[in-house]
Order: sequence, then C-alpha cells, then structure tokens
Amino acid sequence: MKLSVPGRAAATAVVTAVSLLAGGSIAGAAPAAGPTAAAAPDISVAAVKAHLTQLQSIATANGGNRAHGRAGYKASLDYVKAKLDAAGFTTTIQQFTSSGRTGYNLIADWPGGDTGQVVMAGSHLDSVTSGAGINDNGSGSAAVLETALAVSRANFRPAKHLRFAWWGAEELGLVGSRYYVNSLSTGDRSRISGYLNFDMIGSPNPGYFVYDDDPAIEKTFKEYYTGLGVPTEIETEGDGRSDHAPFKNAGVPVGGLFSGADYVKTAAQAAKWGGTSGLAFDRCYHSSCDTTANINDTALDRNSDAIAYAVWGLSA
Ligand code: TRP
Ligand code: CA
Ligand code: ZN
Repeated sequence: MKLSVPGRAAATAVVTAVSLLAGGSIAGAAPAAGPTAAAAPDISVAAVKAHLTQLQSIATANGGNRAHGRAGYKASLDYVKAKLDAAGFTTTIQQFTSSGRTGYNLIADWPGGDTGQVVMAGSHLDSVTSGAGINDNGSGSAAVLETALAVSRANFRPAKHLRFAWWGAEELGLVGSRYYVNSLSTGDRSRISGYLNFDMIGSPNPGYFVYDDDPAIEKTFKEYYTGLGVPTEIETEGDGRSDHAPFKNAGVPVGGLFSGADYVKTAAQAAKWGGTSGLAFDRCYHSSCDTTANINDTALDRNSDAIAYAVWGLSA
C-alpha cells in the first residue's frame, strides 16, 4: 500500500486535523523535525558496538546463533530487557508460537507523552541459524537500544508517546511483528502515528538507503543525511522484506534505514559512498561470518545518530 498525503501547501493547513487519523501520514511532526531534532543526542557508536559485543558473546555461548526458538534468542531478549528496565522503561514480553517453537517480542514504553499519538521504533532481534546475526540484525537492535537509553539519560519528555520494540522470528517471515500488529485493537493501531524500522544498518560495504514510504518520515531521514553531506538512495532491495511491512499493511505510516544486504554495490555507488564496487553490501548476509567483524563503524554511527534524530524530531 502506498500512503498518500496532501500537497505541501495543503498539508500546512490540515496536518493538525488529520494527524490522528488511522492510515494518515506522520506529517504533523514534519515541521518540528528541524528545530526539535537539533536537540537529539549524538549516539555513541562505541556504546552501540558494546551491545554488539554482548550479542556476539550470547551467540558464541549458545551454539553460534540467536535464532528463533533457540537459547541465544531468549538470552538476547533478556539482555535488552534488563538494560531497558534499569533505565526506567515499562517493558512487556509478548509470547507467540511459530514452527512449534516459542518466540518473543519485547515492547518498551517510555512513560509519558500523548498515548493517542504513539511513535514507534523497532528492529528484529533474531538471527538466522547459520550465524550470530551481528549486522542482521544486531546492528538495528543495538542502535535502537542505545537510542532508547539516550531517551532515558536525557529524561526526554516528548509530546508524543514513545515505544520501542524488538521483534522475534523475523527470519521466519516477519512472524513477531505481524503477531504484534494483529494483536492490537483497531483503536490501538490507529493511535500509532508512525513506525520506524531498522534492519541491517552497519553493513561492511555500506550503502545509505532510506525507505520510500511515509513522506514525512522519509524527509526526516533525508534531512539528517543532507546535514552530514552524505547522499542517500531509496531502498529497493525488497520492499516488504522487514518488520515495517505488517505495520504498512495495517495503514500505519512507516519508514526506515538500510545499509544493504546481498545486492552488489555499483561503480556509481562506490564513487559516492566509498567501499568496493562489484562486491555485496554485506557479503556475510545470512552466513556464519556475520560477526562483530562484519560491521562498518561509520555506517553504524551515522545510522544510529539518524535514529535518534528521527525519534526526537518525530515525537516532539
Ligand atoms: N532481514 C531482511 C531479510 O533477511 C534483510 C533485508 C533484505 C532487508 N532486504 C531488505 C531489510 C530491505 C530492509 C529492507 O530479508
Ligand atoms: Ca554518533
Ligand atoms: Zn535477515
């Protein structure tokens, strides 16, 4: 589904009225993205990488992976949950069954804000069985975690309500995120102003891709990258291949960032972003070599900072 929004001039006049409607755009937040997002913190890439080191240790101690239904998945969930609980979040574990194994989503609400306008950021926490899943998707999971912890450290009090999520069983076909969306009442679904998805954001031969979905969310990410002077492209490596899809299908405005999976970097892309043309963005995608060595620190840092910029800007 493609969400349509009014033109720029019309949007100025009507955003306040339509911003609460189900299936609408998060456009009501767009004018605030500039000034408010300027207050967003610089996320420490060292802190994000420290979470990745922990996720790697969890995989290593549990048969080499963090896959759905395996001990490494639950240990990953417990690690993230403990950090959030200590930071003052209200956490909920949502349990489901897929392929005969128990799966879990972790939902973390930041107390306060208008619960009639919920801004969500999420990432899948499960890996495939063949490896530790550090770029796919320790990267998104760790960056969203560190952004949530930054919300707590800043004692951020946005106008909208903030909710963070870590999904189970994405690798089995977006199972956890679909379960969550289906579990919401129509009213609760309509109260989600936007869902931001982060799946693979530290690819070793990175591209800088922005999802082409809700225009205001897309604009916020592009604005961040324009400020850095780094060009972006629209994400085309499989629309609907991550956890934003169930939200989008339910009429929730969505957006996100992506640094590339098994598509090959072109010469033009290497010219603007550096890295190696003729090589996949992530040659270890779904492989045993998706370890802590499989991360580009610059991409992880930029994308982590972009997450904070969007969370601050879109929830003000
Ligand atoms: N986890 C996704 C998958 O295994 C990775 C992915 C591929 C992706 N293409 C994407 C994520 C496009 C976001 C957007 O399929
Ligand atoms: Ca940073
Ligand atoms: Zn994957």
